[in-house]
Amino acid sequence: MKLICAKCNKTEDISTRLAKCECGGLWKLDFQPPKFSLNEIDKNEWSLFRYRKFMALQDETWRSISLGEGMTPIVRLDDNVLLKMDYFMPTLSFKDRGAVVLISHCKSIGVDSVAQDSSGNAGNSIAAYSAKAGIQCEIFVPEGTSPKKINMIQAHGAKVNIVPGSRDHCADICRAKVEQEGVYYANHVYNPFFYEGTKTYIYETFEQLGRIPQHIVVPVGNGTLFLGVIKGLEHLLESGVISQFPTIIALQSEFCDPLLQANKQAKKTAVKVDVKPTIAEGIAIGQPMRSEEILDYAEKYPIHFIHAPEDKILAARQQLALKGIYCEHTTAANYAAYLHYCELYGDTPDCLITMCGAGLKSDH
Ligand SMILES: Cc1ncc(COP(=O)(O)O)c(C=O)c1O
Ligand SMILES: [Zn+2]
Repeated sequence: MKLICAKCNKTEDISTRLAKCECGGLWKLDFQPPKFSLNEIDKNEWSLFRYRKFMALQDETWRSISLGEGMTPIVRLDDNVLLKMDYFMPTLSFKDRGAVVLISHCKSIGVDSVAQDSSGNAGNSIAAYSAKAGIQCEIFVPEGTSPKKINMIQAHGAKVNIVPGSRDHCADICRAKVEQEGVYYANHVYNPFFYEGTKTYIYETFEQLGRIPQHIVVPVGNGTLFLGVIKGLEHLLESGVISQFPTIIALQSEFCDPLLQANKQAKKTAVKVDVKPTIAEGIAIGQPMRSEEILDYAEKYPIHFIHAPEDKILAARQQLALKGIYCEHTTAANYAAYLHYCELYGDTPDCLITMCGAGLKSDH
């Protein structure tokens, strides 16, 4: 297995410490999974590694890193809506899907210290798995990040740097440190191993339901779950186990929507938008690094961008809580966006919505 630059096609050994190609392109993996089949799932493995036949793993290191992530239930909310409970995870968000694969890779290639920037949840995940792996960890978060997320990162022994300014500025500061000090950039957006984990969201859904729902609602900040979902669905389609791509309802914050605007204007990369503060902190990404890839997919598949209306997020959170579902603000945005989609386009049946962050995370 090799890394390939998405821009200039240069190949690189997977043990490289370079976060991206010298030309600036991001890495992808030259890995083609075998055809998906339910028979190839390891039914005795009670984590997302039950799908490891289809994942780019170089060895068995994951066995000592796994915290039992994945296998989150699907719960019916009402006649039209199914919720995939991805906050039932070791660090209470979907980021564990990707972080366990990324940190297993770091351990495999002998990395002993990592840095990463995050709105909080990815930092929680990377910190927890680094702790399990015995890897030193430093996380950069923007000011205003939920204090509970910061506490969790510190509890795992990671150093936290709170950076004044926006989420995008926080990423710039972290990257500058990575470049100066040569520490490994364990970034969930750059690193292709992360998506090997997030794509299991779809494998699980297919195993649990025996089918893929007609509509799938996914949040898009940097798009790490979104891209995992697309990769998983493409794989199922190519394997002939599904015959049609579902409709993807891709939501962005009303106050930070560079991909929605780009899609509307038929642009190939994210457009510059004025980012206003949003309570959906997890999707407040003004400059998504994989915007070209995301917008390409939006041309190829039935992907509809939609806003999560800012003034509807708290009400959506309360509506869910009154049915026993306690999610964080960013996750309530997923439901608010779904309700908005129904207002615009009518009843939307057979819809899977991710509950990807736990409520206690954003209580402050
Ligand atoms: C709860 C939650 N939902 C959605 C997202 C958005 O994920 P991404 O930026 O990978 O699209 C995040 C990212 O931190 C998150 O924490
Ligand atoms: Zn290149």
